[in-house]
Amino acid sequence: MDREAMSNEENYAFDVAGYLHVAGVLNREEVDALNQALDEVGENEGMLGWEGPHRKLFRDLLVHPQLVCYLNQIVGHGFRLDIAPRLLGHRDGEIGATLVGGDEPRNPSRAYFQQNGRRSCQGVKAIWALEDVAEGDGGLVVVQASHKSNVQTPGDLVAGSDEMGLVKQPRLSAGDLFLLAESTLQGVRPWNGDSKRLLTYWYASRAVIQSNPPGPGAQTESFPGWAKEAPPEQKAVMHRPGFKGSNPTPVLNTDGEKTWVEESSDVIHPSIYIRDPNSGIDEKEFYFWDLNGYLVVDGVMDEEWLARANEAVDKFQDRVEVGRELSGGSVSQAGTGRPLLSGLLDLPAPYNAPFRRMIAHPAVVERLNWMGGSGYRTGGATVFCAAFGTSGHSLHDGNEPMSPSRGYYFKNGRSYCETVTITWQLRDVEPGLGGFACVPGSHKTQYSLPPGVRTCDEPMGLVVQPAMKAGDVLFFMDGGCTHGALAWKNPVTRRGVLIKYQSKNSNWGGGVIDPQQRWGDMVEDMTEAQFAVMRGPERDGRHRTVPRLVVQDGQVSVSYNPEGDRYSAKYRKPGEKSE
Ligand SMILES: [Fe+2]
Repeated sequence: MDREAMSNEENYAFDVAGYLHVAGVLNREEVDALNQALDEVGENEGMLGWEGPHRKLFRDLLVHPQLVCYLNQIVGHGFRLDIAPRLLGHRDGEIGATLVGGDEPRNPSRAYFQQNGRRSCQGVKAIWALEDVAEGDGGLVVVQASHKSNVQTPGDLVAGSDEMGLVKQPRLSAGDLFLLAESTLQGVRPWNGDSKRLLTYWYASRAVIQSNPPGPGAQTESFPGWAKEAPPEQKAVMHRPGFKGSNPTPVLNTDGEKTWVEESSDVIHPSIYIRDPNSGIDEKEFYFWDLNGYLVVDGVMDEEWLARANEAVDKFQDRVEVGRELSGGSVSQAGTGRPLLSGLLDLPAPYNAPFRRMIAHPAVVERLNWMGGSGYRTGGATVFCAAFGTSGHSLHDGNEPMSPSRGYYFKNGRSYCETVTITWQLRDVEPGLGGFACVPGSHKTQYSLPPGVRTCDEPMGLVVQPAMKAGDVLFFMDGGCTHGALAWKNPVTRRGVLIKYQSKNSNWGGGVIDPQQRWGDMVEDMTEAQFAVMRGPERDGRHRTVPRLVVQDGQVSVSYNPEGDRYSAKYRKPGEKSE
């Protein structure tokens, strides 16, 4: 790579996940030479200062051309080394269950910033795999999308006592480069078998203060002349990085009358909000939802309910309609059309009962209220009945391009999700055999969905297909989180009842739309353009029934062409945005 610009795939992967896996940066000879140097010296750190020819290899890696290109893009020009290279997991206390990172509370000296195509990830680990690391080998673990978490990491996840299905151990080949944002939740787990060599360099943005090791000035005060006699609280705000009194930084406090220097270095950073133990929200669920864009709630349906629901689907098999093949040109997910049985709420009694029971169930209401606020509504229930060989549904939606009526926003401890779709599992969804799939973290990405991720032909390790049990309920950010389905490869037919909810804030269609219904005689004899803006709210998905006004040569006319509706429509491929 001798270019300055990363590809959209690379930008998307780092932005969504908080890390980027670059395969095959070093060739076999380069890897062998590094391993040989490590064998000969027999130490796990200090490489840049080793004697003789050995250090050259490690100094070359410090500014490896391909790495420099990536760091210029990810950290920003002027990046620098913060912690000297060493083999990961060889220091006392470095290996364990504990994870570090996450973005709440935010640490601006390690955080991820992204805006208008530019990015400044304040800290990045460049991890060079010098040996293959296979699945289950242990070592480095990460939590996808955690560099953008708005919610504090649950204590059990930090401590490693509950992985919540989130902890991933990347598979690496010798010569690969793994770039990892410091704010991504990460850890080093015990190796299963021999430890593997992960040579790690810590880089930081040019101005940020991170590890700030003691320098020659660490024992020296650095104050202007007048401050030498100043009281401690005044000295405290005159400290200079690298000199005495700067690490840890002094903590000032006040009662409004006087100011003092705290003995503890614990950060003081007040908020007007406090955590509400009576919110009725399960904090692990809240974290999971904000992190991933979906949530699985276990065991909502009991055996009896499941039996009734399955019995109803069995009974009306003749109403199942096989729809289009939906893989969107995918090679890996191609198959037959998707079988659906819709109108479940309208089935004759008693067969509608198990489905009507779903739409306002306490487990649903409780969560929809915190996911997007009250006032939501649904239209109906459909059961997805994919059979062995049914195609996948190419992934669609996501935060880019933005769609305010369908997107996700987080502010002041609240989730604002405008569309939530719920799938009730009537049968087990096995791992690796197809079904609902999504890109955790895509509800916050600023980059457009790469074609290979859309088709799942090149999923870049970003796509998950959650395993579920019959009776589990899946919630996902329809519109916000990139989602779809993988081809069904289970001999047992899929049974997922899909129910969509829309917030009270926008209208998909229906209701009072017609100008005459809204305004009566007021719209009489209006021009087409005037009439067009007198309509009621309607979203206009794929039917293109909403008139748009176009100005050309100072003349206003009406168009039904959606082209140009969205600022980033030029990036959108046909079928990428489901409507
Ligand atoms: Fe969808």
